[in-house]
Amino acid sequence: MASFNTVAGCVLASALFAMVVGKVSNALVHPHKLEKPAIAVSDEAPQTAAAAAPAQELPPIGPKLASANVDAGKAIFQKQCFTCHTVDKGGPNKVGPNLWGVVGRKKGSHEGFSYSSGMQAKGGEWTYEDIDHMIFKPTAYIKGTKMAFAGLPKEQERADVIAFLRTMSDSPQPLP
Ligand code: HEC
Repeated sequence: MASFNTVAGCVLASALFAMVVGKVSNALVHPHKLEKPAIAVSDEAPQTAAAAAPAQELPPIGPKLASANVDAGKAIFQKQCFTCHTVDKGGPNKVGPNLWGVVGRKKGSHEGFSYSSGMQAKGGEWTYEDIDHMIFKPTAYIKGTKMAFAGLPKEQERADVIAFLRTMSDSPQPLP
């Protein structure tokens, strides 16, 4: 009987021991398991952000135009756009069409310029927001565009250029 009790006691003791070990190792493994997904998420986050970047929506440029700098816009135009565009009234088309009065002008409508089919199909008039998208990344805005220009990534520069373009017109469009 004594030996049975001893055996039973041993079994019980080792069962208890196993339970305790199980609990302890659970407690040790569990937090470790939690760390893994946390690391995986923070690994993926920058990738997702980078992948989403090209399709990114631009915040509206309209509200920034009132405080934009027309003179700075003129300087940027002369540096970045003038190679391909004249902007004076009755100026000639170059690699790109003359841009006099382009704000509010029908897209792809300047006389004597041969536009890409993507531009001809675009439709509508040039709003401030549309010009913003066009000069941010022409190839993303118009499929197969002829405007071989990388784009102006800086919002302030685009606001300045658009504010300048607005003034190059017989009747400048109202600011939004
Ligand atoms: C490498 C030459 C080149 C440069 C640089 C360039 N453009 Fe253009 N741009 C073009 C061409 C070509 C078109 C016609 C696009 C088409 O038909 O797809 C065009 C079209 C446009 C249009 C539409 C005009 C219309 O009649 O519908 C606007 C607005 C415009 N460009 C603004 C700009 C501004 C602002 C800059 C400077 C930030 C600039 N472009 C820089 C070549 C250029």
